[in-house]
Amino acid sequence: MKEKLDKIGQGAIKELEKVSDLKELEDLRVKYLGKRGKLTLVLRDMGKLDPKERPIVGQMANSIRKEIEEKISSIKDKLDEEVKKIRLEKEKIDITMTREKTRLGHKNPLIATIEELEDLFTSMGFTVIEGPEIETVENNFDALNTPANHPSRDHSDTFYINEDLLLRTHTSPVQIRAMKEMGAPLRIISAGRTFRFDDVDDTHSPMFHQLEGLVVDENVSMANLIHTLDIFIKELFGAGMKTRYRPHHFPFTEPSAEVDVSCISCMGQGCEQCNYTGWDMELLGCGMVHPQVLENCGIDSEKYTGFAFGMGIDRITMVKYGINDIRLLFENDNRFLQQF
Ligand code: DAH
Repeated sequence: MKEKLDKIGQGAIKELEKVSDLKELEDLRVKYLGKRGKLTLVLRDMGKLDPKERPIVGQMANSIRKEIEEKISSIKDKLDEEVKKIRLEKEKIDITMTREKTRLGHKNPLIATIEELEDLFTSMGFTVIEGPEIETVENNFDALNTPANHPSRDHSDTFYINEDLLLRTHTSPVQIRAMKEMGAPLRIISAGRTFRFDDVDDTHSPMFHQLEGLVVDENVSMANLIHTLDIFIKELFGAGMKTRYRPHHFPFTEPSAEVDVSCISCMGQGCEQCNYTGWDMELLGCGMVHPQVLENCGIDSEKYTGFAFGMGIDRITMVKYGINDIRLLFENDNRFLQQF
């Protein structure tokens, strides 16, 4: 039996040394070590041996099995390596071919401004929400307390889709949606596209952008409005920035004001840019939400007050980045965008 085992071991090793692929290797494994393999079959006859011999033969069989297994495993490693090498060889790609360099895009300065404003206001506890560009006449005008004969409703100023729908002329209808959907208290901002009939020139475009803000809560006052906007303007343009609140009229706020800020070019010293006034005019409109607007949205105007503001963000972007033509913001010309 010992001889038989020896012979099997030597035979296996000899055959294994000639193996040239994985399939042959597997066949040999089955031939020797499989359920009906040579070694296995011999071991099955162990029972016929003298009990004294059994452990000795058992040990020998185990060491032969181990030897065969190790041989198989080392050959397998070698063959795997070769297969991999051949595959890599085949998959080689020609990296010498030239192609045009990928050009990375740049963030449009308008988008960068919107993101900066959103960051600023969220850090002050505002939530960013969105509203649709196609609005109802109800949300864009009626619920905002706009009188029936208000000039902004005119067909020569507003793009109507039909009697009830239009392209929103400002972001203020988002206030209405927010109050109707979420009720009070509320602290939101919303930026987006707005549309008014206008001829295109370097400062006008029929499509432009606004950012709207609204706070509704108990005991909200004009002092809160001024404080909030002052902080925002100093954060955006720098601590040296002064603000000026001029009385104005908006149908949806009472009282209402327009806000001017120090001229960016001269920081209030007076220069050609600001006609030597030191002020940059009409950065934004604001005011205390008209009680009728609160009531139109189902909010108790005895219990709640609010303030709102709206600003044109194309202009803010132009001032901030020193851009002198609004059209540059919308053309997406890479030569322009690459500067930012
Ligand atoms: N919607 C106004 C406009 O387009 C801007 C504005 C003024 C918004 C006062 C407001 C506000 O929320 O309170 O000119």
